[in-house]
Amino acid sequence: MTTATAVAHPNIALVKYWGKADAHLALPATGSVSMGLDVFPTTTTVTVDGGAADDQEALGPRGPVPDRRAAAGRPRPWGDAFTLNGHVAEDGALVRVTQFLDLVRELAGSSARASVVSENSVPTGAGLASSASGFAALATAAAAAYGLDLAERDLSRLARRGSGSATRSIPGGVAVWHAGDDQGSYAEPIPAPPMAMVVVTIDAGPKPIGSREAMRRTIATSPFYPAWVTSTTETVGEMLTACAAGDFTRIGELTESNALRMHATIEGAFPPIRYLNSRSVAVFDAVAELRAAGVEAYATADAGPNVVVLTKPEDRGTVAAALAGFGDVIESGTGPGAHLVRSED
Ligand code: PMV
Repeated sequence: MTTATAVAHPNIALVKYWGKADAHLALPATGSVSMGLDVFPTTTTVTVDGGAADDQEALGPRGPVPDRRAAAGRPRPWGDAFTLNGHVAEDGALVRVTQFLDLVRELAGSSARASVVSENSVPTGAGLASSASGFAALATAAAAAYGLDLAERDLSRLARRGSGSATRSIPGGVAVWHAGDDQGSYAEPIPAPPMAMVVVTIDAGPKPIGSREAMRRTIATSPFYPAWVTSTTETVGEMLTACAAGDFTRIGELTESNALRMHATIEGAFPPIRYLNSRSVAVFDAVAELRAAGVEAYATADAGPNVVVLTKPEDRGTVAAALAGFGDVIESGTGPGAHLVRSED
């Protein structure tokens, strides 16, 4: 039995990933750039504890069979097990974890099943996607538990197959995720000036539509999608230049502009998808007012109504205080990459 535990943090894109060029390999249509957070870690332990013979007996060929008996705490000779925040996961969540572990098993030449125990510290409904930290922690722990010694680049490629944004949580810090083929599409750290973020949770409810389906619909129906791909490809280049120059103002301007372009593209889908609500827009307005008052702050938002504000480390307290009336406000600095905290045979 081999066990490994890893920790990973979420990241927020400064230049967004929205749309795949290849759904099976999870290759993005464009590059993207992000800042890793130092709050809301996910801690995941993978224990390889299932024999191949058991699998064959109970499962037939490799398919995950979520069995209600798993929830009742019975032994699980039929496959992987996944516990998230103390609850035994079934159906969709278990299938996604099992499919991801299948990729790891393929790389490791193993058919042994595993149990996965994950603690996600994002407060319920904080509005931050947990898939980035979740799959970055799972990739790191599973690779070690199955005996793979992967370079950071290959770990990042592996995490990509679980969730696109997880690719960027492997290096942490400020990172670029390259578009490309399976070999070339990974994330790596880039030099950047000191930055901080303020997460403004204005709505803790579930999203009306998940990012996978929303991306598919955007690509299929939004007339703005081709322009999104062209302009974002340019913006990635501009963002890399701004980061290398340490030009915080330019980084902020590009960040806010790219977020609004992504939302405009998504709103152009049919039927339309609108993630930002009137209160999200009010936060964007408040951030513009902060700028007018001389505080450098720039707003962005992912596939939901919550707003994240990019600012300088010395201004994060001021920004958090100014936005406290809009919802729960949490400050973050630039966080570390995914890392192993324990590994034993
Ligand atoms: O990682 P996914 O497949 O949930 O997609 C993330 C999409 C955005 O968060 C909206 C943008 C990004 O680059 O993180």
